[in-house]
Amino acid sequence: MAATRALSAAWPLASRLTEAGRLEVGGCDAIALAEEFGTPAYLLAEDDLRARARAVREALEARTGEAEVLFASKALPVTAVYRIMAEEGLSVDVASGGELHMALAAAVEPARIYLHGNAKDDDELRAAVDVGVGCIVIDNADDLARLEALAPDPPVRVLLRVNPDVAGDTHAFISTGQAASKFGVPLEDAPALIERLKASEAVSLDGVHVHIGSQLLELAPFAGAAAALAPLGDFGTYDLGGGLGAAYLDGDQPPSLEDWVDAVVGAVHEHLGPAKRILLEPGRALTANSGVTLYRVVTVKPGAPPWVAVDGGMSDNLRPMLYGARYQAAIADRFAGATPCRVVGKHCESGDVLIAEAELADPRPGDVVAVPATGAYGHALANNYNGVPRPPVVLCRDGDARVVVRRETYDDLLARDE
Ligand code: LLP
Repeated sequence: MAATRALSAAWPLASRLTEAGRLEVGGCDAIALAEEFGTPAYLLAEDDLRARARAVREALEARTGEAEVLFASKALPVTAVYRIMAEEGLSVDVASGGELHMALAAAVEPARIYLHGNAKDDDELRAAVDVGVGCIVIDNADDLARLEALAPDPPVRVLLRVNPDVAGDTHAFISTGQAASKFGVPLEDAPALIERLKASEAVSLDGVHVHIGSQLLELAPFAGAAAALAPLGDFGTYDLGGGLGAAYLDGDQPPSLEDWVDAVVGAVHEHLGPAKRILLEPGRALTANSGVTLYRVVTVKPGAPPWVAVDGGMSDNLRPMLYGARYQAAIADRFAGATPCRVVGKHCESGDVLIAEAELADPRPGDVVAVPATGAYGHALANNYNGVPRPPVVLCRDGDARVVVRRETYDDLLARDE
């Protein structure tokens, strides 16, 4: 390991630059992976995923008697990842019938599945009740009416999602705790629904849930959310949601998983009481930094700054276009050197800009470009715009690479045609 250069927190824990200046992820040479699996490709460092899952579970268990960490699977819905999270002792949050299906396909124990969603339909609720999920998070009065029509026996355990009217500092599209949000029940309407849930024979109300937003880099809003719940009464379980931010750029320093757990547990104990069962639902903080996307440079066009066009774009990473998310990139075997450039995709839109202000070392067609911090909501939001097949997901560990989601083929693009 001598003479290897340490990479910033944006890169996976299990990654490094070798003496020869080549990027390794999970002990695998990035250029060799690009050759073997093609580009674009999503790499995941398995050790990184496991280390973060374990860290948050151990931190929560150490600070509070009863605890449960749910993997918010919308961030990285891949059966291999559901399995890894279950092996690390996490439960799982699914937000649709499709995510429920994937969790079950990964053999996650139904009792460890929590069903979320602001518009759960009859089929989704019936499937959840039929397989015996551990908990359904009630978002609205219609969820209760639907469950009552299904008359589950025994009653299904539920949490009530409350909108705490606490806004974190993040992009408006991923802020969910402010009063004007489509998620959960407003604080003032919660007492009436709580009474109905307590009286209902279809459900057994276990506690309340909040999720204030995503990519949060400050911890104060979590304490604010806990405080907001106090007037609603005393419950056994409090689920404070997910939302902890990840590092996307060199120099980004989000709070650590441990500091997040400290803040949440401290706030629950202070505002809601000491002997509570505390749940957390991280997605991004578990997965974002495990991921690196590999692209191949297709063309370099002069410009101020130059346009470096790669073989993917908004079909494999919508986050820059949706949220103005910023990323960085490096040439996988030439980190040193920095030519200002724009990294753009291959799609028919001017907005298909992956990185507006990138610095790459003299980029040339054929170079392999690595973009870190793509493990959350990249694969999840991928699409087939312009008939571009979605990339494979490659799990890397100890020098072994394993395709856990294969690349789509052109025939896959026709697979649903009748
Ligand atoms: N729990 C609930 C109820 C949620 O709605 C979410 C995310 C999470 C947990 C996990 O949040 P995380 O820890 O990952 O921040 N596509 C957007 C993110 C949308 C998040 C939706 N809900 C993005 O790429 O930034």
